[in-house]
Amino acid sequence: MTNKIRTLTGITTTGTPHLGNYVGAIRPAIAASRRADVESFYFLADYHALVKCEDPVRIAQSRLEIAATWLALGLDTERAFFYRQSDITEIPELTWLLTCVTAKGLLNRAHAYKAAVDRNVGDNEDGDAGINAGLFMYPVLMAADILIFNAQRVPVGRDQIQHIEMARDIAQRFNHLYGAAYRAATKADSDPFVLPEAVTDEDVATLPGLDGRKMSKSYNNTIPLWLSARDLKKAIFGIITDSLAPGQAKETEGSSIFSIYQAFASGEETAAMRQAFADGIGWADAKQKLFERIDAELAAPREQYNALISQPDEIEERLLAGAKKARERSAPLIAALREAVGLTSRLAAKSNAPTRIDAGSAGSAPPQWKRYREKDGLFYFKLVDGDGAVLLQSVGFHRPDEVGSAIARLMALLGQVAVDSAMLAMDGRIEVAGSVEAVQQALAMLEEIENRKRAAKDAQARAL
Ligand code: TRP
Repeated sequence: MTNKIRTLTGITTTGTPHLGNYVGAIRPAIAASRRADVESFYFLADYHALVKCEDPVRIAQSRLEIAATWLALGLDTERAFFYRQSDITEIPELTWLLTCVTAKGLLNRAHAYKAAVDRNVGDNEDGDAGINAGLFMYPVLMAADILIFNAQRVPVGRDQIQHIEMARDIAQRFNHLYGAAYRAATKADSDPFVLPEAVTDEDVATLPGLDGRKMSKSYNNTIPLWLSARDLKKAIFGIITDSLAPGQAKETEGSSIFSIYQAFASGEETAAMRQAFADGIGWADAKQKLFERIDAELAAPREQYNALISQPDEIEERLLAGAKKARERSAPLIAALREAVGLTSRLAAKSNAPTRIDAGSAGSAPPQWKRYREKDGLFYFKLVDGDGAVLLQSVGFHRPDEVGSAIARLMALLGQVAVDSAMLAMDGRIEVAGSVEAVQQALAMLEEIENRKRAAKDAQARAL
């Protein structure tokens, strides 16, 4: 693990990105992802989208558009983790583990659920009329999104602060109930979850929409981010202004045109526009300047976007690569959590001393686990192939029982997750000395030998 601050945020995939999303969330997130001291996780919250939207075409389209948007705007997916929630199978798995420690009463108090109930009651309906359980469980799924990567900071809008507080509550409860078991299973000295904090950036502008209210899908006053230059200009000319004529001084305070301009312009440009307002710039001129300023920023990414959106396979590939990278983190954590709650794997429960496998069952010698003590007095283990080449090598342990439990843990992990993920979860206590493929091959061979032995024993038992 690194010392970088882990920042994470999700984008619900129900709509088309607009200028407000860009200024308020996407642009600052991409900027943050470039910082050397930050590790960022950005994902498409497509499971959350299902809570609000039952139109599969719209969900699919929105996933594509939002993914293309982040890529077109230059998110560096080598640095950042960029993935779809629904590609991380550990998220729904964790959701259930968290569900079982979450007080129902906590969920009753969630703003979104409560508001829906209140509306029903106001309409003289049954409180839960038309409310799906997804809306009720929404905060738990969101807690899983955050906790699966142990994010420390979660940039969100104010309406989401309560959800982050709930994620903290849920994490705390889980830590309290299972912290000791988790530490025993992993030999770690910390709790499974860090408590996340909401980050609401006061400096980031909330953009006014066409009608002067906050730009929001629910007000139907948005300017989509990827309009053609022509349509963007049309939309900007449709922003409502007062009826002051050219030559009359205009207020910057409360002017949508000015606010949006400021969100795109440098300090100098903004000062010049402020002066122009005082000097009585006409609305048509101001709108033209606003259009030019936005278009200057978006023209190049717009081309990128259009190129990407016509190549959905390329988007898919990058998302799958992002999921793979993210799962190298989530898989080891879920394996440890499963152990902590008692869902221990068959392999871990089995007698854990690796058995020496006799050579010569078929062709070349089989791989072997070896436990040994070195001159330094420490205890080690390793996996060697038939020719004696080292495939996996442990660090030195002070006591033999530590070797035993490290092997047991490694076996449990290898039974559940890929070699890479298992290594990550072992936290440097064992390392791949050769190639991952060679390790995989050796493990497969050992399993095959085990299977054959078992089959032979079964056959023998049946014969008796
Ligand atoms: N609920 C968030 C919203 O509507 C989206 C979201 C889902 C999210 N999971 C998250 C945000 C995890 C931050 C962290 O805006």
